[in-house]
Amino acid sequence: MDALPRDGSIEVICGCMFSGKTEELIRRVRRALIAKQKVQVFKPQMDNRYAADQVKSHNGSGFDAIPVACAGDILRLTEPDTTVVAIDEAQFFDDDLPRIVNALADSGKRVICAGLDLDFRGEPFGPMPTLLAIAERVDKLTAICVVSGEPATRTQRIINGKPASYHDPIILVGATESYEARARKHHEVPDKP
Ligand code: TMP
Ligand code: MG
Repeated sequence: MDALPRDGSIEVICGCMFSGKTEELIRRVRRALIAKQKVQVFKPQMDNRYAADQVKSHNGSGFDAIPVACAGDILRLTEPDTTVVAIDEAQFFDDDLPRIVNALADSGKRVICAGLDLDFRGEPFGPMPTLLAIAERVDKLTAICVVSGEPATRTQRIINGKPASYHDPIILVGATESYEARARKHHEVPDKP
C-alpha cells in the first residue's frame, strides 16, 4: 500500500488467521498518522482476546482502538474531522457494516477494514463478502500452513486435539490454542455436508 488515498474509499485486508491482517492494518494507520491524518480505529467489543481497547496482532504489535457493540456505533462515534477510519475483526460485525462503511467513504473518509474472509468451516464470514464487493482495494494475505509449509488460506479450528465439526458454533474467540493456519489441501471439516 503505497499511495495514501485522500478521497473517500474502502480498503479490505482479508485472509485466514495468522496472515498478518492486523499487522497490515496497523502499518497503514501508522503511515496515515505520519501523513498528519486524523485516524480512528474501531473493533468489536466481543473480541476481548488480548486487550479491550486495543487492536493486537498475533506477534504483539498493538494500537489503541475504540470497542463498539455494533456497526452503527462506528458511524455515531466517527468525528467529523476524522479522515481515516480503521476497523479490525470486521467479520464479527452485523450486516449493517457495509452500509456504514459506504456512508463513511461517501462522506470522503478513507476506510480500512481487516477481517477473516472465511470461517473455520471454509465459508464466507458475516459481512465480509459484501465488504469485499464494495471495496476499491482488496488485499488477501496468506499465512503458512502448519502441515505443509505452503501458503495457507484456511483456518483450522482444533478442539481437544481434533478438527472441529462443521456444526460447531461459528464464533469462538481465540488464537493458537484453538486455531491453525492451513492450506486448502490440509483443511479438515468433519461433518461438512
Ligand atoms: P484474527 O484473524 O485477528 O487472528 O482473529 C480472528 C478471530 O476470529 C479470533 O478471535 C478467532 C475468531 N474466529 C471465530 O470466531 N470463528 C472462526 O470460524 C474463525 C476462523 C475465527
Ligand atoms: Mg487480527
